[in-house]
Amino acid sequence: MEIAETTTSVREKVKAARSQGKKIGLVPTMGALHIGHIALIERAVQDCDFVVVSIFVNPTQFCPGEDLENYPRPLETDLEICEKTGVDLVFTPTTEQMYGTANLTWVTVDKLTEPLCGRFRPGHFRGVTTVCAKLFNIVLPDVAYFGQKDGQQAIVIKKMVADLNMPLQIVVCTTIREPDGLAVSSRNQYLTAQQKKDAALIYQSLRKCEELVGGGVTDTESIIAEMRQILSRAPAMEIEYVNILDAETLEQIDSIDRKVLAAVAVKLGQARLIDNILVDVGPQ
Ligand code: PAF
Repeated sequence: MEIAETTTSVREKVKAARSQGKKIGLVPTMGALHIGHIALIERAVQDCDFVVVSIFVNPTQFCPGEDLENYPRPLETDLEICEKTGVDLVFTPTTEQMYGTANLTWVTVDKLTEPLCGRFRPGHFRGVTTVCAKLFNIVLPDVAYFGQKDGQQAIVIKKMVADLNMPLQIVVCTTIREPDGLAVSSRNQYLTAQQKKDAALIYQSLRKCEELVGGGVTDTESIIAEMRQILSRAPAMEIEYVNILDAETLEQIDSIDRKVLAAVAVKLGQARLIDNILVDVGPQ
């Protein structure tokens, strides 16, 4: 496994792999790798001949007051994980490498970034799309891998790639969960044992949505009320949003008659946790 710290070096190494006819896969990460990232890397290793993992805690996607300074950066462990999972190249750029001294160009996706996390994290998606556009331009992968756990992010990136005619495929992999259903996240390490127990209610609320839709309930308002009821069992949990939106356009809908994204965000102690599921009513 090789490590590259500069864009020039990544470009050279990827170019060499491509000249041998290799299919290039990219897994963009902010490090603190866990089993969710490992699942993405394993999928990339399975699909591609040359796998690049980027590790970069992207400052532009953190809002003021968020956990940028405290975000975990266990680089040695991350590199060991990459080595073990069969990664060919790890890209660990500095902020200087990624943004220079005066970055004036930003990528923004309208509309899809307005609801859900966009409402609570102004500027977050602009940071995500800009850094992903940069990474795609630096690495020039054939395929890039993202997790369904960040469902809105995946939808936004897919739209950016389509709208800007970027020549790569986006693969979205299923959410990896703890045995109690809690979606695996780097931010789970901020949770105490009690908070972890409380956090399991997030997935229970999403399962409730699935169960109600499966049972023929279509009214989003009453489903959201039931989901909130479940979350309210943990008084320490501060609900940011519980929503059910069109899975493609992220538009508000009153009645479920198509594939929807049911999404939850909460604050629990030091952590902000998000999760979602896709629910389809199936053929009518
Ligand atoms: O999902 C993440 O970890 C980040 O948002 C990403 C895609 C690596 C961009 O910094």
